[in-house]
Amino acid sequence: MVTRHETYDLSAQNTFGMKVSCRLYVEVTEPEDLLTLDFDALPQPVFVMGGGSNLLFTGDFPGTVLKFAGALPPNDPRGLKALSDFCTSKSPGPGRAPDGAIASLQVPEEILVKVPAGVVFDDFCAWAASEGLWGPENLSLIPGEVGASAVQNIGAYGVEAKDIIDTVHAFDHTTRSFVDIPGADCGYGYRTSLFKTDWKGRYIITSVTFRLSTVPQPKLDYGGVRKAIEKRIEDMGSETYATLGLSEGGAHLWEGRRSQSDRRVSVPIPSIPEESLTPQFIRDTVIGIREQKLPDPKEIGSAGSFFCNPVIDRDHFERIVAIAKAENGPEYEVPHYEVGERVKVPAAWMIDQCGFKGMRLGGAQVYPKQPLVIVNATGKATPEEIVALEQRVIGTIREKYGVELHPEVEHVSSQVTEKQ
Ligand code: EPU
Repeated sequence: MVTRHETYDLSAQNTFGMKVSCRLYVEVTEPEDLLTLDFDALPQPVFVMGGGSNLLFTGDFPGTVLKFAGALPPNDPRGLKALSDFCTSKSPGPGRAPDGAIASLQVPEEILVKVPAGVVFDDFCAWAASEGLWGPENLSLIPGEVGASAVQNIGAYGVEAKDIIDTVHAFDHTTRSFVDIPGADCGYGYRTSLFKTDWKGRYIITSVTFRLSTVPQPKLDYGGVRKAIEKRIEDMGSETYATLGLSEGGAHLWEGRRSQSDRRVSVPIPSIPEESLTPQFIRDTVIGIREQKLPDPKEIGSAGSFFCNPVIDRDHFERIVAIAKAENGPEYEVPHYEVGERVKVPAAWMIDQCGFKGMRLGGAQVYPKQPLVIVNATGKATPEEIVALEQRVIGTIREKYGVELHPEVEHVSSQVTEKQ
């Protein structure tokens, strides 16, 4: 089904809550509907939108916003139910696969799940965890839809979408044909892909095939995930505790009440073997971490991380270390991650060091709990205020550290969308 709206208010379509409109809004529900659209006859430019969770409309959009909602049942437009319905069998196991959702089976421990572009990405994460399937659990609670995850190569806690993307299915409006693009050909990098650069505006992603694993693959070594898991187990308290059930099926994390007849062995928390964790446990832990520091888009407008974390030369990093030690004392350690010969320094740290936490400019604010995020604090912030705060941050970081911050949020301007 194709629905068209002239001069359409986009406030509810972008998580930043910018009160902007577009000249034409076209929503398409079935991939085949795309064949009925004459792209050249639409008001230009045409901007394809996903969940609207990583965008900043910098003003009213004079062209067409095209939203591919994906093949979702009409009564449950965005839910986990849609995914469960799509994947008709709910119990995939090694060597077995849910009907309909599987493109092919490569090895017994892997299944390929084809998910419509309009499914909320976190619903997919929830579904995978509930099925005990490994892959997207570290990406839990990232806002946005499946289609956009393949454009943006979303990432969190040491996992990126590209790690689990097998194939991207899309409509190429220049040739009016449907194509299957292997993930390896999508030019994935840190929060980027060819869909954002050379292929911009060409493809409309209709579904994504993800490669999930039926065998444990916990990734705990990034961003405090391991610590949070240990803390969660500790917080279960004296009555409820975690122990290892050493059953024939192997070790598993067990949560239950201590009783005299219980002969299961309690082990020191740090020695919990990784194979004892479930994707659901990791998902719940990641959700806990995110909820503590990131704003809930339902309550306060934002588009997640506003800036990318810069990667700089080692010499440059040493100069930053010198500045930080001069300000904070000789013992001070600058958080960083090695990226080959270079060094990734958290933008959040630099923004924090420059005293921006909680700073407001009109309705725009640097989020106090995670300064990498800019929020629409009053619900009435204008695009101009957000951009002014962005520029203030970029200018200050440039001056103090000689680092050029780049926005992670895609800026959709009144003329064209800007390449990152
Ligand atoms: N930090 C401070 N002060 C603060 C907050 C953080 O100094 O107030 C420092 C800390 O040292 C912290 C470091 O900054 O360890 C990094 O912070 P954090 O891990 O919270 O965030 P990040 O690595 O900068 C990235 C992604 C997030 C993702 C997290 C977790 C980008 C642009 N952002 O942030 O993605 O959730 O890692 O993996 O890469 C998103 O894309 O919308 C998003 C939230």
